[in-house]
Amino acid sequence: MTNITYDTIPGSEKLDDNDVILVTGGTGLFGKGIEEVVQTLKLKGKFYFAGSKDGNLKNLDECEKLFEKVKPTYVLHLAAFVGGLFRNMKYKVDFWLDNVNMNNNVLRCCHKHNVKKTVSCLSTCIFPDKVSYPIHEDVLHNGPPHFSNDAYAYAKRMLDMTSRWFNQQYYEGEARFTSVIPTNLYGKYDNFNIQDGHVLPGLMHKIYLAQKNGTDYVVYGTGKPLRQFCYNVDAARMILWTLLNYTEEEPLIISVPEEDEVSIADVAKTIAEEFKFEKEIKFDTEKADGQYKKTASNDKFKKLYPDFKFTPFKDAIAETVQWFQANYETVRK
Ligand SMILES: NC(=O)c1ccc[n+]([C@@H]2O[C@H](COP(=O)([O-])OP(=O)(O)OC[C@H]3O[C@@H](n4cnc5c(N)ncnc54)[C@H](OP(=O)(O)O)[C@@H]3O)[C@@H](O)[C@H]2O)c1
Repeated sequence: MTNITYDTIPGSEKLDDNDVILVTGGTGLFGKGIEEVVQTLKLKGKFYFAGSKDGNLKNLDECEKLFEKVKPTYVLHLAAFVGGLFRNMKYKVDFWLDNVNMNNNVLRCCHKHNVKKTVSCLSTCIFPDKVSYPIHEDVLHNGPPHFSNDAYAYAKRMLDMTSRWFNQQYYEGEARFTSVIPTNLYGKYDNFNIQDGHVLPGLMHKIYLAQKNGTDYVVYGTGKPLRQFCYNVDAARMILWTLLNYTEEEPLIISVPEEDEVSIADVAKTIAEEFKFEKEIKFDTEKADGQYKKTASNDKFKKLYPDFKFTPFKDAIAETVQWFQANYETVRK
């Protein structure tokens, strides 16, 4: 049960019961956020939340079978091989090949099935390493990404380019294919694995174990890097808005505002407060920090949808921690 409330999404009246919206990666963190919003707001249309059991999208035959079965009019393409800093550094070939194959197969099927609009998912961590802050949409391809996640970043950048090429070659430049660029996401249904997951769910899992076992709560790195964290339900409301209203092919940053950027140390503290953990937080400064910051501007989104209200960080953390504690035995970890 959630205490978090939000307004309906402008443009949702455009959906009707004949619309079929395929969400690839629908069983993951972002997809589950969309499912929650669709149910809460009782959006029209048939939403199909596909996970890898519904078809391995790396395989063109399986991807085609999924499209044949679902016959989507709209597609939100979220499926990806994802992970945190350490996984990104260890499995670069997999990050490149798996993601390029999935993306090419999905986009080809969207074109073949005459999908009205496809919104794919990029990430703020694919922007150039050397860039002036805050980052805006138009610098996406202006220099190499950080070495730690270059394979993932180039695969996502090519997803943007392939989307644009489909628009150019087949749709006279109409933006049938576009993308969003979310910042770090978190929420219920995240991957709480400490080695392979992202920083925030990893911190939640560490503190859970520290509290249970009476051990130290050790944060990897200095705690100084700054990040923008976006609740999956907020990102869900933004991508649905994009699907229904955005008419450009340039990927749109969907992120909390710059002023809501927080240090890893502050995130660790907020989570500790929610767990009522009172011991000192320790930092393992031998471990890599990753990029110091990658502040992204959400100015373009704000101009297009000025009334959008973000869920307060503390409320979303509280909701996520309570869910994690209640579902510890079955969460991904
Ligand atoms: N999490 C973040 O902080 C973040 C930030 C920026 C952008 N993004 C982007 O958001 C999107 C969703 O990420 P997420 O955090 O929701 O990831 P996630 O929780 O790990 O979910 C990944 C989803 O992709 C599906 N998938 C993976 N490999 C597949 C395959 N071979 N065939 C079919 N489906 C496959 C998974 O299906 P199963 O459940 O069956 O495995 C799952 O539904 C990704 O494109 C990611 O790059 C995420």
